[in-house]
Amino acid sequence: LFAGPCDFFHGAQQLEQLPDPGEPEVAFAGRSNVGKSSLINAVTGRRSLARASSEPGRTKQLNFFNLANKLVLVDMPGYGFAKAARAVKEDWQEMMFSYLRGRPNLRRVILLLDSRIETKASDREVMELFDLAAINFQVVLTKCDSVKPRAEKARYQNVMEEVGRHPAAHPVVIPTSSETGRGIPELRAELAGFAQP
Ligand code: GTP
Ligand code: MG
Repeated sequence: LFAGPCDFFHGAQQLEQLPDPGEPEVAFAGRSNVGKSSLINAVTGRRSLARASSEPGRTKQLNFFNLANKLVLVDMPGYGFAKAARAVKEDWQEMMFSYLRGRPNLRRVILLLDSRIETKASDREVMELFDLAAINFQVVLTKCDSVKPRAEKARYQNVMEEVGRHPAAHPVVIPTSSETGRGIPELRAELAGFAQP
């Protein structure tokens, strides 16, 4: 699945622009700058399939990537980006949730949380919305290369407790680093479970 062809095939800025539902989809969501685009590059083994940037708010539309015609990965814009205008944030939230709620072929949302930063109110809101809409999600901790083991352990335990309170959450949390490749095989195994045979 990850060794085969892998292409960007669609970008959507509005709901009307979504591609017709096809292969099973997994969406990557999380705060701006948490590392969504970098993680998609890491799991697909491409250096710059998805555009990553140190500047928050880099991804501005839903980007759809096709893996061997068996699975679609969706790179989402980040939420919680303080600098964005309020109207822009509301538009994007509405678009994001309409997509997540109404997508028949969406199998799971990978929710990225930064291993270095506490869970924010915006992350909690998103998890609550996933519960309400019964959207299956799984938490991945990002940037684990830049946190000390002891701090990572504390953060991990915290997140595990949090995940335990959300009925829509998958119980397994995966610590990852797009820089070192840590956790990428585990994440690939999860994704492969959703691929069309
Ligand atoms: P938006 O598109 O703005 O929502 O951001 P994003 O979540 O797609 O984040 P992106 O992948 O663009 O990465 C943001 C910044 O974090 C970049 O400077 C990346 O190089 C850095 N980054 C991403 N993953 C890792 C990681 O595993 N380790 C470290 N140290 N830095 C990372
Ligand atoms: Mg991005």
